Amino acid sequence: MKKNKIIFKDNTGNQFEFKIMNGSSGPSVVDLSDFYAKTGMFVYDPGFSSTASCQSEITFIDGNKGKLLHRGYSIEDLAMYSDYPEVCYLLLNGELPNVTQKKEFIEVLTNHTMLHEQIQRFYSGFRRDSHPMAIMVGIVGALSSFYSEKTHDFTSSVGKWVAVTRLLAKMPTIAAIAYKYSLGQPFVYPNNDLSYSENFLHMLFSTPCGNYRPTKNRVDALDKLLILHADHEQNASTSTVKMAGSSGANPFACVAAGVASLWGPAHGGANESVIRMLYKIGNEENINKFIKKAKDKNDVFRLMGFGHRVYKNYDPRASVIRKYCHNLLNELDSKDFPLLKLATKLETIALNDDYFISKKLYPNVDFYSGIILKALGLPESMFTVIFAVARTVGWISQWKEMTNDLDSKKISRPRQLYVGKKKRKFIKISKR
Ligand code: SDX
Repeated sequence: MKKNKIIFKDNTGNQFEFKIMNGSSGPSVVDLSDFYAKTGMFVYDPGFSSTASCQSEITFIDGNKGKLLHRGYSIEDLAMYSDYPEVCYLLLNGELPNVTQKKEFIEVLTNHTMLHEQIQRFYSGFRRDSHPMAIMVGIVGALSSFYSEKTHDFTSSVGKWVAVTRLLAKMPTIAAIAYKYSLGQPFVYPNNDLSYSENFLHMLFSTPCGNYRPTKNRVDALDKLLILHADHEQNASTSTVKMAGSSGANPFACVAAGVASLWGPAHGGANESVIRMLYKIGNEENINKFIKKAKDKNDVFRLMGFGHRVYKNYDPRASVIRKYCHNLLNELDSKDFPLLKLATKLETIALNDDYFISKKLYPNVDFYSGIILKALGLPESMFTVIFAVARTVGWISQWKEMTNDLDSKKISRPRQLYVGKKKRKFIKISKR
């Protein structure tokens, strides 16, 4: 018999009945939206480990089996047979595009890759040594003044599509300019004759002095990385975008909030931290010393690129990236072989260590992605920027789904368990 309700009973004999909702895959949920009204108590789940914040049709993760689906398609198949624009179309519209739909979608993105010329002035306000993620937060947020409620109705399907297509089209341009600014090199305009990923590499690495053309392997490597980072259910940065969006905030400002959240080393900032950690470990002889530090409760050091709130098995994205790492580094004549060798050795040792086995800590998407990005010629400071470009489609797809969903017209507003001072008498400063 399928469970459809649950009864909570407290120690004084009161009991409360709640509905169980079943999805198409994965764990069912207990509908506690009226828990406070029925019980006068709040539900406590500070890290949201046991909380489903919404219903969604976009991405499904089976953390125990290490499976990831986007609209029902496995991440392995999408990485193997699709490209990033096609995955964007799938995440946004629910179906893979046919030839005509794909051509029209790519045309829209291609024709909106340029930034308003005035936006370029914002970059010069940043220190040259600013972290590019600080620049991304600023510039993406600034877009909300160029696409404002004065000119666009973001509650309408037309207005939402403008937000979606302009963000997808312009994020690579914004990211590339942030990189060029950090180098003191001239900004490179988009080239509409190139594919999405090829154009991104063109804007990152071309200079007026030569005609840079990335190899197919480099373009494919970037395209795969963008696919593998596109969306990941209700992660911290996506939840940030949706929390901001629940108040009706401008979608460009919501995505800027997502960029800020992704920057943290526990989230998207981990790919940068992995490389810095590998350089710090230096060689295989030091691995055990760092594994010991990661296991030491009194040491803040954690093995970056390991562990995941949802995956208690191998992150399927890490497996795909690891595979591409090997064949790509072969082709990219990259000097980062030692980094890959060290990462592979570290992974083997960690995966045979009881601490990591017992806590089900496996490599996540960030463990190998930095190695490919380094092999593509990018500095560590740009790694999370690439992640932010890739995840923009996830953020905006989930924002679009939320704003289309009648249930979510309410602002997200969690409560708390108050443990502070009870009401007390005010004491004048002369008496303190
Ligand atoms: C991403 O949510 C997403 O989907 C995120 C993401 C996406 O695509 O959006 O997948 C992208 O953010 C991947 C994660 C990248 N972050 C890192 O690689 C940083 C290192 N990892 C950890 O900080 C940690 O594993 C988290 C933040 C990823 C997950 O933390 P949780 O779920 O809150 O788990 P936890 O911190 O409660 O850890 C459980 C136990 C703890 O030990 P105990 O308190 O039980 O004794 O495992 C330990 C932790 O100390 N632990 C680690 C560890 N990760 C967890 N110990 C050593 N090294 C680690 N990396």
